[in-house]
Amino acid sequence: MRGLALVTGGAGFIGSHLVKQLIKEGYNVRVFDNLSRTKNNIEELKEMKKVEFIQGDIRDKEAVAKSMKDVDYVFHEAAICLNKAKKFPEEAIDVNLKGSFNIFTAAIKNKVKKIIYASTSSVYGQPNYLPIDEKHPKNCKTPYESTKLCAEHMLKFLAGQSETRYIILRYFNVYGKRQSTDAYYTSVINIFIKKILAGESPKIHGKGTQSMDFTHVSDVVSANIVALKREISGEVFNVCKGEENTIKSIAEFIISKLNSELKPEFIERDVFVTRRKGDNTKLKETLGYTPKITLQEGLAELIEDVKANPDLY
Ligand SMILES: NC(=O)c1ccc[n+]([C@@H]2O[C@H](COP(=O)([O-])OP(=O)(O)OC[C@H]3O[C@@H](n4cnc5c(N)ncnc54)[C@H](O)[C@@H]3O)[C@@H](O)[C@H]2O)c1
Repeated sequence: MRGLALVTGGAGFIGSHLVKQLIKEGYNVRVFDNLSRTKNNIEELKEMKKVEFIQGDIRDKEAVAKSMKDVDYVFHEAAICLNKAKKFPEEAIDVNLKGSFNIFTAAIKNKVKKIIYASTSSVYGQPNYLPIDEKHPKNCKTPYESTKLCAEHMLKFLAGQSETRYIILRYFNVYGKRQSTDAYYTSVINIFIKKILAGESPKIHGKGTQSMDFTHVSDVVSANIVALKREISGEVFNVCKGEENTIKSIAEFIISKLNSELKPEFIERDVFVTRRKGDNTKLKETLGYTPKITLQEGLAELIEDVKANPDLY
């Protein structure tokens, strides 16, 4: 057995995919999640032997401390997302920052071997240049971006004074099976698929020229596992496909894939970030991981899953 991994937010979209892969790789896994986001994944995970589930809140120091018993590795995925953090900034501070502080301090106190923190390309805010490398200025404007960046700094400070190794992964626009449809940006794919299958036009904010660097969840999971296994510590990596796709082109791709006659509908709305394309050179050359899944492959898989399991989206 390869050791015990604690996955905070393990019942969430990325966390649940990560848990399944860790089990496949021979790790024991403990999930710590308050199930505030979805209960869809947890029953499936509970059925898997080697997954222990603790329903707890990362704001609860005592529960967090208990969850660290015998843990070798921590993957910290639990957070509240961009749109919720915008609506409830104090909750963003409590969960994304103070909650992360609780996880990091408890992990370090328990002499966990490595912490992998799920950060975000949102810390770069509106880009000054493309592709965005890890040194790009951090143009944080919203509570989500600020709290995620602060937690990065907190981890560097706390782990830097300890024996615990750590890696920060800045995920770009993750998409894939079983993503909930209320995330601000990436779930746009699932929303488009659902709408088009229901015979409704997909609604695009603004002109649809805003772009994203869509990164398949299985590549994000693999980057986490590589980050765990490599000796590297104290580094930050962009996790992205390194490609730019507009929202309009995604809608058109899905429409054509579903042989639909629908046209996208454009609606006025503020768009926070107009373009996103990451530089994954450091991920490839220093961490040694190259994202594999093309957007076409990922979209085709997702369309089939939404068709087969409409209730889950
Ligand atoms: N999805 C993306 O495109 C994306 C992009 C960049 C970064 N990230 C980061 O990746 C991580 C996972 O994102 P996701 O898309 O899987 O989100 P998600 O909302 O699907 O999963 C988050 C999980 O954390 C749990 N959680 C929330 N608050 C909690 C609390 N106080 N205590 C315990 N558990 C709590 C939720 O119940 C949920 O299961 C997050 O840290 C997010 O900031 C995601």
